[in-house]
Amino acid sequence: MRIILADSTPEAVQTVTTTVLEKISSYPSSVIGLATGRTMEPVYAHLVEEAKRLALKMDKTFFFMLDEYLGIEESHPSSFKTYIKSHLQNPLHLHDSQFAFPPTHLVSQGIAGEHYESLIKEAGGIDLQLLGIGVNGHIGFNEPGSAADSKTRVVELTESTKAANRSHFGEGEMPSKALSMGIGSILSAKELVLLATGKSKADAIKYLMNHHDDESCPVTYLKAHPHFTLVLDPEAASKISLKI
Ligand code: GLP
Repeated sequence: MRIILADSTPEAVQTVTTTVLEKISSYPSSVIGLATGRTMEPVYAHLVEEAKRLALKMDKTFFFMLDEYLGIEESHPSSFKTYIKSHLQNPLHLHDSQFAFPPTHLVSQGIAGEHYESLIKEAGGIDLQLLGIGVNGHIGFNEPGSAADSKTRVVELTESTKAANRSHFGEGEMPSKALSMGIGSILSAKELVLLATGKSKADAIKYLMNHHDDESCPVTYLKAHPHFTLVLDPEAASKISLKI
């Protein structure tokens, strides 16, 4: 695991954005895995700004979404599809055909996970997977208890995750399930970049430093990946000490 300690949140955001821009400019047909959450919003804002400034050609790039809520329409204002459309796809005028989303419409037939995994495989795998982290150490929606070799599947959200995301649903009901790429799917990506910002993530980051392969904190599985970069702002890094 490579750790980058940024001096500020904007610097941490810039580090992640630069990784994506470099990947796409050196290999325009890259397959990028996208994460959602408040943490990633400034990343996409900066990415849009820089891609426009550099006139980066992104028409050959393909994107896989990490997860999606179940029980809401794709067009719901808090769906991850809506999120990525407004933060990335629309501002960069990317085509619908450049995106794949967890196929929530196939869940009732029991083939959603298998189908998504085959799409990822057909695309040649994910070159760079962007990740955030939940306060309980979840990755995507792989909650504590997820297995290291888990694949895309329906997952039950924990109370802590629902509490952290409830504000996105206002008066409406918060979904209790999601379709998420598994830990095994994520570990199959060629490169992982996880961004953690803010003090609410400091405990999970501290736990990550001291544990590995610990199902009670799924982020610890990522340490087994040979190309895993952890980017931290000062608050997220506030509970760890790194000996130089
Ligand atoms: C959700 C998403 C995760 C994301 C996490 C953190 O649970 N499924 O992919 O990493 O939220 O969100 P935030 O960045 O808002 O703290």
